[in-house]
Amino acid sequence: MDFVFLEARAKINISLDIKGKREDGYHDLATIMQSINLFDTVFIKKTNTGDIRLETNAGFLPVNEKNIVYKAAGYMLKKFDIKSGLYIDLKKNIPISAGLAGGSSDCAATLVGMKKLFSLPLKYAELLEIGAELGSDVPFCINRGTYLAEGRGEILTKLAPHPKIFVVLAKPPNAVSTASVFAEYNPKAVKKHPDTDLLIKAIYEKDIISIANNFCNVLESVTERNLPIITDLKSAMIKNNALNAMMSGSGPTVFGYFINKNDAHAAVRYIHKNFKQVKEVFLTTVYNPNQRRIKCRTILR
Ligand code: C5P
Repeated sequence: MDFVFLEARAKINISLDIKGKREDGYHDLATIMQSINLFDTVFIKKTNTGDIRLETNAGFLPVNEKNIVYKAAGYMLKKFDIKSGLYIDLKKNIPISAGLAGGSSDCAATLVGMKKLFSLPLKYAELLEIGAELGSDVPFCINRGTYLAEGRGEILTKLAPHPKIFVVLAKPPNAVSTASVFAEYNPKAVKKHPDTDLLIKAIYEKDIISIANNFCNVLESVTERNLPIITDLKSAMIKNNALNAMMSGSGPTVFGYFINKNDAHAAVRYIHKNFKQVKEVFLTTVYNPNQRRIKCRTILR
């Protein structure tokens, strides 16, 4: 085999709570993350050039060490003393700097792809550890599905698969820096924290109404303060019969849950018509892989 082709899925945060600031500068989280059927693709091919050549349809992205895909591939070549060159083609569909873990997922796909391509003697747990070094969301993006993520985001607990639902995503034109949203976060200003246990119970009971009613993200008000369009996009989704709508991660993407596909389509049309500046609007569904090998805690209820 001299090439691999991978799908790198985006995620949404159904809840995001911050438990405190850590000595390493990061924040301790409790966040329920869910993979969705919006994905980038990563094609990796062995070459005899001795270097890494990265191409992408997103012209403004760097194609050197500053790109997390290049960095992950270079890391694996070095760690396993691989002499081969690489050609990598990254096709972006996931909005960038959007709160959807696009970069982390591309990184995860690259790590998994390198393991496959070179048949690396790497245990699954080791792959997750390498992922955690490259980004807090990368281990989740390697696993994919429905997880509670704690610590920096790397301590994963597998939950029951999320019930099926249509998800509309709308990405305001602004890029948001995760680091600055976390830096601006003020625990004293938070009015409401998620009820994580209740959400986990709702996921186990496949109670989609309770899941949607309990959406809560403590970073939402930080980003919303700077970008009021987030509030308007949430209202637009609810006006079009979303069960509920919220910002994902550090933002600025807003997602809404729809039971009815026609309502979801109507919401997409409504946003296209009324928010001309919002170019990235998607209708997708939640994604849960059929996984057997997951080396982390599983909550059984
Ligand atoms: O780990 P990652 O590079 O994705 O994180 C980006 C930034 O987000 C970090 O540099 C940090 O400022 C912030 N962050 C945080 N606490 C976390 C995860 C991320 O403060 N648990």
